[in-house]
Amino acid sequence: MNQTQSGPQGLEELDPLDARVARTLDNIRCKLLVMSGKGGVGKSTVACQLALGLAERGFKVGLMDVDLHGPSLPRMLGLEGRAVIDEKGGAIKPIIYSPNLRVISVESLLPDRDSSVIWRGPLKIAVIKQFIGDVRWGELDYLIIDSPPGTGDEPLTVAQEVTGAMAVVVTTPQEIALADVRKSLDFCLQVELPVLGLVENMAAMACPHCGEPIDLFGQGGGETTAKDYAVNFLGSIPLDHRITTAADQGAPLTLSQDEQGAGPAVAQVVEAIYQRTLGRS
Ligand SMILES: Nc1ncnc2c1ncn2[C@@H]1O[C@H](COP(=O)(O)OP(=O)(O)OP(=O)(O)O)[C@@H](O)[C@H]1O
Ligand SMILES: [Mg+2]
Repeated sequence: MNQTQSGPQGLEELDPLDARVARTLDNIRCKLLVMSGKGGVGKSTVACQLALGLAERGFKVGLMDVDLHGPSLPRMLGLEGRAVIDEKGGAIKPIIYSPNLRVISVESLLPDRDSSVIWRGPLKIAVIKQFIGDVRWGELDYLIIDSPPGTGDEPLTVAQEVTGAMAVVVTTPQEIALADVRKSLDFCLQVELPVLGLVENMAAMACPHCGEPIDLFGQGGGETTAKDYAVNFLGSIPLDHRITTAADQGAPLTLSQDEQGAGPAVAQVVEAIYQRTLGRS
């Protein structure tokens, strides 16, 4: 990234980092924030599967982990390397996961996986802005942003700094998770972050013995909530033990290409997201 080049009109008046953020965002066609009110519902899994699925379809994809306290994407993706900081320009080179997929996470900048950083609010805002403005993303079709649960500094910073971003809200069918979704939707309303839609995760799994569905976390709650709040329902992903195993092994399956288990459902979510974003133009 050439940090001195002049960009669209008005950028000269911005703080230099803000100007770099604006230039980077200009080169990204679609920005999606994956969020939820509740922890552990599968945000990182959905973010990861969207990124893998869209990259597999030939789109240039960036995957940005703004879960600063508990980044999980590097482990899920089995990322070994660290992001490199270019000594001259100060820009950060993201990790190239595959020809179409670049990834950045705070974990890839720390000396080792178990290092912890105490993040205060302003520092979080600064690092997220740097993740956009100082990372050499290049031209991207999609930037997928994985956030921690809740409506704290991280999603707020994305909502305020990432012009044109849209939220993909993840939930399980369980009532307690759906109550938190309603908070997420209210947050989006308050910060004027458009909601692209709702994804239900951890829906019924097939019984390994008889194949009958087992609704571990209830049934149909995501779709009903989407209807009640007049947001798009993007699909329902079943529980699939291969997701857990693959994440623990750091060897994710590109489920959208898989015909078993959660595969077809993930493919449907990827398609729904494409249809409602770049598929429209
Ligand atoms: N559909 C699924 N089937 C089986 N396991 C799943 C599924 N979705 C997610 N998991 C597993 O559930 C766990 C939590 O998922 P994940 O880390 O994606 O949630 P999260 O919402 O990002 O959590 P956090 O709030 O901590 O960031 C992980 O071990 C993941 O592999
Ligand atoms: Mg997560």
